[in-house]
Amino acid sequence: MPGGAVVFTGTADTSRVEAPVTVKAYLMCAFAAFGGIFFGYDTGWMSGVLAMPYFIRQYTGLDYPDPNDADAKAAFVISARDQSLTTSILSAGTFFGAIIAGDVADFIGRRWTIITGCGIFSIGCILEVASTGLAVMVVGRFIAGCGVGFISAIIILYMSEIAPKKVRGALVSGYQFCITIGIVLANCVVYATQNRKDTGSYRIPIAVQFLWAIILSVGLFFLPESPRYFVKKGQLEKAANALAHVRGQPIDSEFIQEELAEIIANHEYEMSVIPQTSYMGGWTNCFSGSLTNGASNIRRTLLGILMQAMQQLTGINFIFYFGNVFFKSLGTIKNPFLISLTTSLVNMGCTPVSFYIIEKLGRRTILIWGAAFMVGFQFIVGIVGVTAGRLEKHDNPAVSAMIAFICFFIGTFAVTWGPAAWVVVGEIFPLPIRSRGVGLSTASNWFWNCIISVITPYLVGTAKHDANLGAKIFFMWGSLCIISFVFALFLVPETKGLTLEQVDRMLEETTPWTSAAWVPHDTFAHEMGLTEKGIDVAPVENVEQSTNEKSAV
Ligand code: BGC
Repeated sequence: MPGGAVVFTGTADTSRVEAPVTVKAYLMCAFAAFGGIFFGYDTGWMSGVLAMPYFIRQYTGLDYPDPNDADAKAAFVISARDQSLTTSILSAGTFFGAIIAGDVADFIGRRWTIITGCGIFSIGCILEVASTGLAVMVVGRFIAGCGVGFISAIIILYMSEIAPKKVRGALVSGYQFCITIGIVLANCVVYATQNRKDTGSYRIPIAVQFLWAIILSVGLFFLPESPRYFVKKGQLEKAANALAHVRGQPIDSEFIQEELAEIIANHEYEMSVIPQTSYMGGWTNCFSGSLTNGASNIRRTLLGILMQAMQQLTGINFIFYFGNVFFKSLGTIKNPFLISLTTSLVNMGCTPVSFYIIEKLGRRTILIWGAAFMVGFQFIVGIVGVTAGRLEKHDNPAVSAMIAFICFFIGTFAVTWGPAAWVVVGEIFPLPIRSRGVGLSTASNWFWNCIISVITPYLVGTAKHDANLGAKIFFMWGSLCIISFVFALFLVPETKGLTLEQVDRMLEETTPWTSAAWVPHDTFAHEMGLTEKGIDVAPVENVEQSTNEKSAV
C-alpha cells in the first residue's frame, strides 16, 4: 500500500530481536556469495595466460622459438613491464570500482549496484576477448576491474545486511569460499587451453567469465533488496517487505516488526550523531571522531582499511600470483603448475572449516591465532629455505618440507584471515557510512593487492637490479604477520552473534579486549522511545529528514 502508514510495535526483548530463518532464506543469502567467483577467477587466469605460447606470439609478434635454442626460448616471453601492467591494471580498476561503488549502492541500491557491476565487467570482458594487442587488453582489464570492484565491495555489504546474525560470519565466509573456487577454476581452464595454437587458448579462459556475470545478475533479479538500504532511504514499507522476504516470515510477524524497529531506531540514532551535510561532508563523516574512541567513525574506517591491508600483507597472493616462478626457482620441482594447483586446492579445501570456527570461536580469536600460526609457518619456510633447502640435489626433502609448510600457511589463511577480514569489514560500520566504509576497505584490499603484484617480481627476481630474495622473502611475510597479530590483538573487536545494530552498541561500550564478553542489554528501539509508543511510519523520506532536522537544531 504505497503511501499508507505501517505501524510497528516492538518490544525491548533483546533475546528475540531476530526471526527464525527458513532454509529458503538461508539459500537466498548464500547465493550472493557466488560473486566471489569473479574475484577469484579474475585474479587467477592472467598469470597462466601470460605464459601461453600462442598468446606470447600474438602479443609480441615473435615466432615460436626453436625448442633447442635456449636463448630464443628465454627471449620468448611478454616483457616484465607488460606483465606487471596487465596484472596490476586489474587491481587499479577494482580500486576505483570499489570506491565509487559505495555511493552507487546508496543511490540505486545494493542489488542494482551488483547487477551494474556485472554489466561493467562484461564490457571489459568483451574488450579482453576482442583484443589482439596489448592496448585493448589493458583497457579491457581496467574496465573489467571496475566491475569486479563494484561486485567485491557490494556483495560483502549486501550479504552482511541480509544475513541472519547467527550465521552471518559463515555466510560471508561462503563468499571467501567462492573466491577460492574461482582461483581453482581459473587454474583448471588455463591448464586445459594453454597448449592450443589458436586464439581459443586465451579467449576461452576470458570468455568463461561471462557465465559468472550471467548467473549472478540473473540470480539477483530474484533476490530482494537489502532492507537496511530501504531504511536508509526512508522507504519503510519496502524495508518491511524485503526483511520478511529474506527471513521467510510474514510481514506482520512480531519478529519482523522487532528486527525492523531496531534497524530503524539504530539508523535514527546514528543519523542524529552523524550529521549528513553535503556530498563531501558525507565522505568526511567516514573520518570523523576521535582516534581513541573505538566506536568513532575514524576508528571503524581505519579498522576496515587496515584489516584489508593486513590481509594482503600476509603474502597470500605471493603464492597465487608468483607461485609458479618461486617453485621453479627451488630447482628440484618438475611441474610447478601442479604445485600451484595443489596450493589452490589446499586454499579451497580448507576454507569451509571457517564456516564453523568463525561462529564458534569468533572473528577476533581466529584472527589472532591465525596470524600467530602464519608467523610460525612462514619463518619455518624461510629458515629451511636458507639452510637445507638451498642444496640443489634431486628430490631434496627440504624442498618438500618447504612446500608442506607453505601449504600449512595457506590452510591457516584460508580458515582465518581469508574469510574473517571480509566478515569483520561487513560488520563494523554504522548504516549512514556503511557502504562507503566497506567500499574504502575493499579498495584498500585491491590497493595492497596491486602494490604486491607490482613489487614482488623485483623482490624475488634474479636480474641485475633485482633483490633476489628467494626463500628469504618468507622472513618478510612472517614479519608482516607479526604486525597483523598485534593489530588483531589490540584493535579488532569480537562481533560474532550480534546484529549489526548490536555491534554498533557493543563498540560504544567496550574495548577490543572486553568486546567478547559483551551481551546485548537494551535495544535502540527502546532507547529511541519506539517500543513504548510503536512507530507510526509514514512513507518516508522522514527518517533522514527528521534526524537531519534534529541535528540541525
Ligand atoms: C584475498 C585475495 C586472495 C584470496 C585467496 C581473499 O580473501 O582478498 O587477495 O587472493 O583470498 O583465497
